[in-house]
Amino acid sequence: MPSKIFDLIEAEKQRQKNGLEMIPSENYVSEDVLKALGSILTDKYSEGYPGRRYYAGNRLIDEIEIEAQKLANKIFGTIYANVQPYSGSPANFAVDLALAGPGGTVLGLDLPSGGHLTHGTKVSFSGVFFNAVNYHVDKDGRVDFTEAEKLAQEHKPKLIWVGGTAYVYRYEFKKFAKIAQSCGAFLAADISHVAGLIAGGSHPSPTPYVDVITTTTHKTLRGPRGAVILITPKGFKKDSEITKRIDQAVFPGLQGGPHNHQTAAIAVAFQEVLKPSFKKYASQVVKNSKILAQELMAGDIKLVGNGTENHLMLIDLTSLGYGLGYQAQVALETAGITVNKQSLPFSDEKGKNTSPFYPSGIRLGTPALTSRGMKEKEMIKIAGWIKQALGEVKGHDLPKEKTSRAEFIQSYKREALKNKNLLRIKKEVEEFAKKFPAPGF
Ligand SMILES: Cc1ncc(COP(=O)(O)O)c(C=O)c1O
Repeated sequence: MPSKIFDLIEAEKQRQKNGLEMIPSENYVSEDVLKALGSILTDKYSEGYPGRRYYAGNRLIDEIEIEAQKLANKIFGTIYANVQPYSGSPANFAVDLALAGPGGTVLGLDLPSGGHLTHGTKVSFSGVFFNAVNYHVDKDGRVDFTEAEKLAQEHKPKLIWVGGTAYVYRYEFKKFAKIAQSCGAFLAADISHVAGLIAGGSHPSPTPYVDVITTTTHKTLRGPRGAVILITPKGFKKDSEITKRIDQAVFPGLQGGPHNHQTAAIAVAFQEVLKPSFKKYASQVVKNSKILAQELMAGDIKLVGNGTENHLMLIDLTSLGYGLGYQAQVALETAGITVNKQSLPFSDEKGKNTSPFYPSGIRLGTPALTSRGMKEKEMIKIAGWIKQALGEVKGHDLPKEKTSRAEFIQSYKREALKNKNLLRIKKEVEEFAKKFPAPGF
């Protein structure tokens, strides 16, 4: 195979193989998912929905899309699935468009509290085209329901979002249902992060409580990049036009032709989710996460909420120094452990301390490691390396002067690459990681 791109793909494959991928929104897909994703289905245009296309030649594409819809409904106990959203952000845009309408009021979790950009942040469509109001978490990192209820009464949102991207507790869908009912709002659950745990029975399902569910397919569900929007029986009862509204918002509201290769790969991943082995996978993800959290805390590492109830945790670095999130990400990456810097509730709220680019925490999780067959014993080992790597970050506080931060990080990166302890850990990590082949490799 010619070209620089194939060489780069091979190099990235080696990086993923030799390191520990701990960004909680990432995972490894199977060979079959890759096969469907790389298939000739990418050649076909299919604007519209099964049986209602704007182009000819879609008989087989219709069958593929219907199969993906059926599998999605089977997994989540829903009555309708739109499997066309290109990814999680457009799925959420489509739901806002369908159920709040342009300029409509939408209530969602604040970004530093663990919410996603699409749940009502000023810099995203959700804050630009909609009237976004945010609820927050309390000191333990748990949703402040008193505030959420008060905001719902005050602003009368058309749509409330439950879900997040950096939230360590189980989502309390029932409590949100009560709030939505009290103000007449639609309730949408964005389960992008925990969808695989829900599918595997390791997290409560939102289906009995919410009207609409969105989820990406590429995180704990172990599918290709993509997303689905699901309608629950409750949602249909609330509004018999809801499926039509969602479909119209996706196409022609927001998108053109669906990515058929992606739809097929989603269907393949969903077939895998329905196997009994997926239940074991989901349960092991949570077990691994809990033991990792426990080990880190035993090593005096502070976690938001003192632990986790799902697949991810948030390390609070404020006791080690000022604005250490970026430096910790660099140190861990140098040691072969990939995580992401993360804003923390309270430490990183607007006007306090740092910024989302230079935050005070890191976010990490176990979905990808668990896909490689790692269990409790391996988590204990990995916690040891993380503790050692974080020890190297101490004393490298972020400059208070904003203009010198970019250069400071560049200089810290150069320094980390020469750090003997980090390089030793990297070697150990590489030896270890090779023993756990990733699916799809
Ligand atoms: C909760 C949540 N919703 C939506 C998204 C957006 O998904 P995408 O990156 O596919 O647009 C993410 C991605 O991280 C997410 O965590």
